[in-house]
Amino acid sequence: MQAAYDQHRSCTEGKNASYIPALAQVNPAFFGIAAVTVEGQVITVGDADQPFAIESISKAFNLSLAMDALGAETLRRKVGAEATGEPFNSVMALELHSGKPLNPLVNAGAIATVSLIPGANSAAVWQNILNRFSALACRELPVMEEVYGSETATNQHNKGIAWLLDSYGYLYNDPSQSVDLYTRMCSLAVTARDLATMGACLASGGINPLSAKRVIKQENVHEILADMVMEGLYTGSGDWLYANGLPAKSGVGGGLVCVVPRKMALAAFSPPLDAAGNSVRAQRALTDIIATLRLNPLAC
Ligand code: DON
Repeated sequence: MQAAYDQHRSCTEGKNASYIPALAQVNPAFFGIAAVTVEGQVITVGDADQPFAIESISKAFNLSLAMDALGAETLRRKVGAEATGEPFNSVMALELHSGKPLNPLVNAGAIATVSLIPGANSAAVWQNILNRFSALACRELPVMEEVYGSETATNQHNKGIAWLLDSYGYLYNDPSQSVDLYTRMCSLAVTARDLATMGACLASGGINPLSAKRVIKQENVHEILADMVMEGLYTGSGDWLYANGLPAKSGVGGGLVCVVPRKMALAAFSPPLDAAGNSVRAQRALTDIIATLRLNPLAC
């Protein structure tokens, strides 16, 4: 991990996300890596305790909540489980499939998934989301209010997607409420250490290795990981799978988490992104670590 950090520390490729103004202001030099094993060992390098916005990585963990409540088959029917082959906020992907989002890890699918989370009102749904994330990270994750405000002021595209989903019958709650909860969830602050902890809950079949508590139903873990394989890095998912053979999930805040089933989760944070919206240094650092530790299950 230290070698990967040293190797990629001075890389200046990529650009912070700028369509959410608050993300453009984050120091692009931040770089941290963390690993949490299924035995509970925690290893960190660099800015592994620097908070940043979880963004799309939240989609995988919110999916765990929806699946645990409704079952994987319901998610597959109401949201889908295929790759879209289009960017994460694509409207065309919806139009091509009669409004079905296809995958819970793209914006449309994640907004549809949020709309399925049980709760009598917005506050109750939010509490369910927060409880799940806190159980996964072993601490209560705070909302980054500046990011939430910035994203709320500029999320017209996601609002459009929500109303479109509603018109096609693929949204299961109020559109404005669903986008607001989705936006707030994306604004939760995490560190690379948190992400590795959350990922390790998937690696261990749903048990948090640090608290020893079951946090995800075991029967749903492999479907969540399958969605991460299909769509975890959007249009970069194929390149990632080709190189690493492992499920992962990225966010435009610069985070990336990769799950090595039955072994560990690796996470990295570095804000500058490639054209698909994935952190350049995080991908490179994790790819190096996976190769050095021979963690690619497809490499025989
Ligand atoms: O909805 C959005 O656009 C953001 N809240 C999240 C997008 C994202 O992280 C895509 N990731 N690479």
